[in-house]
Amino acid sequence: MKDVSTFFKNHNFTADIDVEALLAEFDRQMVQGLEGKGGSLKMIPAYVDADKEVPTETPIIVLDAGGTNLRVAVLWFDKAGKVRIEDFQKYAMPGTGDMELSEDVFFDCFADYLAGVSQRSDSIGFCFSYPTEITPDLDGKLLHWTKQVKAPEVVGKMVGTGISKAVEKRTGIKLKVKVLNDTVATLLAGKSAGLARQYSAYVGFILGTGTNIAYVEANKNITKISGINPDASMVINVESGNFNGAVLSDFDKAFDATTSDPGVGLFEKMISGAYMGGVGLAMLKAAATDGLFSEAFAAKILAMNSLETMHFDNFIANPFIKDGLFETFNPTEDDRRMAMTIGEQLFVRAAKLTAVNIAAAVIRSNAGTDKLHPVCVTVDGSTYYKTRSAFFKSRVEQYLREILNGRGIYFDVISVDDAPMVGSGVAGLIS
Ligand code: BGC
Repeated sequence: MKDVSTFFKNHNFTADIDVEALLAEFDRQMVQGLEGKGGSLKMIPAYVDADKEVPTETPIIVLDAGGTNLRVAVLWFDKAGKVRIEDFQKYAMPGTGDMELSEDVFFDCFADYLAGVSQRSDSIGFCFSYPTEITPDLDGKLLHWTKQVKAPEVVGKMVGTGISKAVEKRTGIKLKVKVLNDTVATLLAGKSAGLARQYSAYVGFILGTGTNIAYVEANKNITKISGINPDASMVINVESGNFNGAVLSDFDKAFDATTSDPGVGLFEKMISGAYMGGVGLAMLKAAATDGLFSEAFAAKILAMNSLETMHFDNFIANPFIKDGLFETFNPTEDDRRMAMTIGEQLFVRAAKLTAVNIAAAVIRSNAGTDKLHPVCVTVDGSTYYKTRSAFFKSRVEQYLREILNGRGIYFDVISVDDAPMVGSGVAGLIS
């Protein structure tokens, strides 16, 4: 087999990340963001007090707008604190199709989907998985789109108010919409599920279509906002997908240039489901150009327009997969081995970057030093749980143990069913 290490070196690609340097850079930029001094991490205060008790037997409408799906349901906690979900419906997220949507059409879509449940509660817990500045009364201004959503007029608008007005126009009913990020919701879902374990801190991490993390920060460190109790703490949405501290390879740069938002979400483009296939295709094309494949296979690779993360992952996990994407390209054994060897490193790198991201938030939580009270990391997202290449999930956990246990920090990684919806219910009910 031809030499892959020279190929990687020539294209400035390595899965051998300098973990300590990256952790330090993450922390530096997290502090910078908390102080309002710029940098790539927005560190958005969520105005959610995670310590409030959740009322039981009180239904709330929940809306979960992710990168692919939009979920609507009615949710409540029964007397025993067990979550109940009713009237669940799933739609495509408005603006993720081929057509660009105007602001009115965008909010009207939500109103259509909410019409059937609008009488079930006076509030909506709205999990909105995009960079959004939250107000103390939980409305939210969209800062910019990620995940290639096409509804440019919505940027800069208050999304809670937009939905509330559209529902009122459609049904005559006035609903309070309480906006939170999906990582904040995931953190809260983990908190309500993990109460009995007595954790010392909570982190919510998402690796799906996009990626991001939330954790609890001491208010005294959030110096960019005033008027908050310095002795209390608050959930912070890091918007870690926009982190710019990781070294970009030629493949990352080539792929980024093909997206609708070059330069934005560079970290997200290295590790999340919407993008890893694109970086993978850039790797394969460079390998084809550099003569690492047979001529026939190289020609087919060079003619490809796109590659889904899932298809690439399936191929790497099983390079002989029958209905696989590359099967019609008649790869030789060497082609399969080479594509697999190259692709694997993309997922190894993603696992390491993922672990650094989670560890950075756990370290900033300043907790978990007593093994009786570890830090609870709740993880949600299909890319985290479904990626098969490079033993992805267990590799992330292995790196996490190395990084955190080595510092004397104890942690648990848990999952909660329907975490974004459950957490939105919690936020809606306690605020
Ligand atoms: C968004 C975040 C979100 C993350 C995970 C990113 O693209 O900017 O707000 O939390 O995806 O869904």
